[in-house]
Amino acid sequence: MRACVVALAGAMLVCCNEQGGGGGGGGGGEKITVATGRSPVSVTARAPLAPADEAKDIAESRCAMCHGKTGKGDGPNGITLNPKPQDFTTKEWQKSVSDAQVRSVILKGGGAVGKSPLMPGNPDLESKPAVVDELVKIVRAYSPN
Ligand code: HEC
Repeated sequence: MRACVVALAGAMLVCCNEQGGGGGGGGGGEKITVATGRSPVSVTARAPLAPADEAKDIAESRCAMCHGKTGKGDGPNGITLNPKPQDFTTKEWQKSVSDAQVRSVILKGGGAVGKSPLMPGNPDLESKPAVVDELVKIVRAYSPN
C-alpha cells in the first residue's frame, strides 16, 4: 500500500512541475487533488456462462415472452401484438430468412430489416457474437428443417 501512495504522489509532482509549460495550466491558485487511490470494486464471483447456456437463458427470459416457449409466437406478451411475433416453427419462414438476417434482427430489432419495430433489438449482445450464433441456432431448432 505504501509503495502505491508514494507512486501516486510522484505522479502528482510531475503533474505540478509540468504546469508551466503545458499551456492552459495558468491559474496559479493552488489546487490540491487528493489522491484517493482506487476505490475498491466489488466483483461478484460468478463463472461466466458458456455462450450456449447464456443464449438459452436469453431465449427463455427475453424471447419466449413474445415468441412462446415452443417458438410459435404465442408467448404471453406476444399474443397482443400486431403483427404477431414470428412463428419460428414453419419451414416456409425458416427458408425465407438467412442467418445474417436473423442475426441483424436479434441485434438491431425488426425495424432494421423492414419488419415490425415491436421486435426489440438486443444491443447488449453486439459484444457477444458467440451468444448471437447460439440464438440463431435456437431459432433454427424450433423448426425441423
Ligand atoms: C416484445 C416482443 C418480442 C420479443 C421480446 C422478441 N421478439 Fe422477435 N419478434 C417480435 C415480433 C412482433 C416479430 C414480428 C415482426 C414482423 O413480422 O414484422 C418478431 C420477429 C422476429 C424474427 C423474424 C424476423 C424476420 O426477419 O422474419 C426473429 C428471428 C426474432 N423475432 C427473434 C427474436 C429473438 C431471438 C428474441 C430474443 C432475443 C426475440 N425475437 C424477442 C416480437 C418480439
